[in-house]
Amino acid sequence: RLDVTEIFDGITFPGHLHTQDSLRYAVDFKFEDTDTLIVTYPKSGTTWMQEMVTLVSCRGDPLKTQTQPNWARAPWLEQYYCPEVLKASQGPRVLTTHLPYHLLSTALQGSKAKVIYVSRNPKDVAVSYYHFHKMAKFLPEPGPFSHFLSDFVEGAVHYGSWFDQVKGWSSNAGNIQNFLCITYEEMWQDLRGSLQRVSSFLQCPLLEEELTSAEKGCSFSTMRENSMVNYTLVPEEIMDHSKGTFMRKGKIGDWVNTFSEQQSLRFDDVFASKMADSSLKFVWQ
Ligand code: PPS
Repeated sequence: RLDVTEIFDGITFPGHLHTQDSLRYAVDFKFEDTDTLIVTYPKSGTTWMQEMVTLVSCRGDPLKTQTQPNWARAPWLEQYYCPEVLKASQGPRVLTTHLPYHLLSTALQGSKAKVIYVSRNPKDVAVSYYHFHKMAKFLPEPGPFSHFLSDFVEGAVHYGSWFDQVKGWSSNAGNIQNFLCITYEEMWQDLRGSLQRVSSFLQCPLLEEELTSAEKGCSFSTMRENSMVNYTLVPEEIMDHSKGTFMRKGKIGDWVNTFSEQQSLRFDDVFASKMADSSLKFVWQ
């Protein structure tokens, strides 16, 4: 099903991981108060936050992150294998999603589940997503960056519009009882402080040496070498590892090396108009 696209509520999803049933399962999901839900638009720090949550829950012990793939310890709610993974798992559940808020609003209503929303500079997201399209065989061929950027801006990419997704979650923060909003940039600039925020949000206090161990485990250099998170376990038929690396650069503001000045100015205009009704300000450089 690599070349199949699943359309749900007007949004397209890669068909090798999503079905109508799996998407319906996510929408109807019964959250438990002990659940943690990591929410991101793709390429915004999903894998990084999965690692941070695992390491905080394990009090810095890297064993789980080194022996269990990220999708098995923090499965995507909307992907077909989620029910199976949850059935086999023990202890408080950690889930991941790229879905927009409106599809999960009913499921989350009244829930005390802890929701962590990670956002990233959309220009860096666009560049990261572009490179991922080149290696992921379940995503369409992106063509030149200028074409991909137009599709990205129009929301004509898998998982829908970045603008709608970020606006939906940030403007409904007040409707979610336990909500932590953090950016990729904050994680990058202060990883230890970000781990402390996650640990206090999850009510899982860490000793200094546990925090140090967690910090080491979710550094870019450790994660890049860890086959449980760097996607090298994914077979060539699904990801062409000769065309790129999942842990590509891990930088902030690197979009300047891909965007032309004109593309950047045009993006700023689109951002200003699409985000005019949002409380989120353009805090990125
Ligand atoms: S996905 O496919 O949606 O799950 O991708 P996602 O994990 O959200 O995003 C992948 C980008 O995150 C970078 N990354 C990191 N950066 C810094 N430090 C750490 N530890 C880290 N882990 C993952 C990864 O390199 C991708 O960004 P780019 O810009 O492509 O390098």
